[in-house]
Amino acid sequence: MPTTPPPLINLHAFEAAAAERLPRMVYDYYAGGANDEVSLRGTRQAWDNLAIRYRVLQDVADRSLRTTVLGHKLEWPVFVAPMAFQRLATPEGEVATARAAAQSGAGMILSTLSTCTIEAVRAATDGPLWFQLYIYRDRGVTADLVRRAEQAGCSALVLTVDTPLLGRRERDLLNGFHVPSDIPVPNLGVDIRDTLASQQSTASALGTFIERYWDASIAWRDLAWLQSITSLPILVKGVVRGDDARRALDHGAAGVIVSNHGARQLDTALATARALPECADAMAGEGVLMVDGGIRRGTDVLKALALGAQAVLLGRPVLWGLAVNGREGAFDVMALLKAECDLAFALAGCRTTADVTRDLIAQPA
Ligand code: FNR
Ligand code: LAC
Repeated sequence: MPTTPPPLINLHAFEAAAAERLPRMVYDYYAGGANDEVSLRGTRQAWDNLAIRYRVLQDVADRSLRTTVLGHKLEWPVFVAPMAFQRLATPEGEVATARAAAQSGAGMILSTLSTCTIEAVRAATDGPLWFQLYIYRDRGVTADLVRRAEQAGCSALVLTVDTPLLGRRERDLLNGFHVPSDIPVPNLGVDIRDTLASQQSTASALGTFIERYWDASIAWRDLAWLQSITSLPILVKGVVRGDDARRALDHGAAGVIVSNHGARQLDTALATARALPECADAMAGEGVLMVDGGIRRGTDVLKALALGAQAVLLGRPVLWGLAVNGREGAFDVMALLKAECDLAFALAGCRTTADVTRDLIAQPA
């Protein structure tokens, strides 16, 4: 007897529904983390471990989740995280994601490893669009990407700094993860494409590709190089320490994204909910501060804001939405989380993001 799928009542249900639809290799690549996935569980758990000291009798009849990040007006404090290879989830790929994000009043960060062109994604909406950059050994390739993002009209660069090499993702090794050759990766050259498509048992084509083409020698000095070739603001993504957050600002970054790359890089890395307060303290209100990793509930967004973030990045749940129902599915995921955020604000006694302050989080017992 066919079973009725459970209603898509929360983001966890979207993941379960996506797992049924996606090929195993794709689901595992999206869902997985590094090594024993200790950080994957821990990064999610760390939000749950924070208790909210909600305020009462605050007249929350009128509320707003609106905020402004780097001059962009958002309906709610969320950007879609940069995530590679979205056409593995739905034929429209990143164009669908951009439309869903714009429809929900969120921003979007487009991955270097996008399966739609930068220009097509930019043309799909008027919403805030930032370009995420990985630095190639060939600085010409990197500079071309930056120029293309600028010319297309992306309004900031997000430099990801936690991936000199790819983390050890054992699900991908077991599945021989690769990007089938009918899936375009159009912002990069052809030879690069062949490496990504080659399938080997117990190897990840992505790992081979990164080792071959990305620059593991990148260091703080390269932030100056990047600034020398662009006038776009640069955010540094992948920081989990206050001293690194401070250093990013001192090297001219416009902001920091506290992230452990969705626990896909260094296993047992610090959970971002725990890293965020020290980064906020070190930055002392200077520059933009955002956080990602395991945000699955409206209360997680509230907690991130309370600990000093101006906005959060939402990762995998958007892919689950795409897999379930393309653009509409991704929009549904964001609508669900936005409604949860609104309720969390109301029940915590917050009318606007300005009311979401650190005293809402209880000290650990
Ligand atoms: C990522 N992430 C990522 N980050 C980045 O800077 N460039 C990239 O191309 C990718 N690609 C990518 C692919 C997939 C499938 C995932 C799941 C993640 C990391 C991403 O931006 C973000 O940091 C985390 O995914 C956030 O955690 P959650 O919300 O997925 O738990
Ligand atoms: C990932 C890389 C591509 O996390 O950022 O899969």
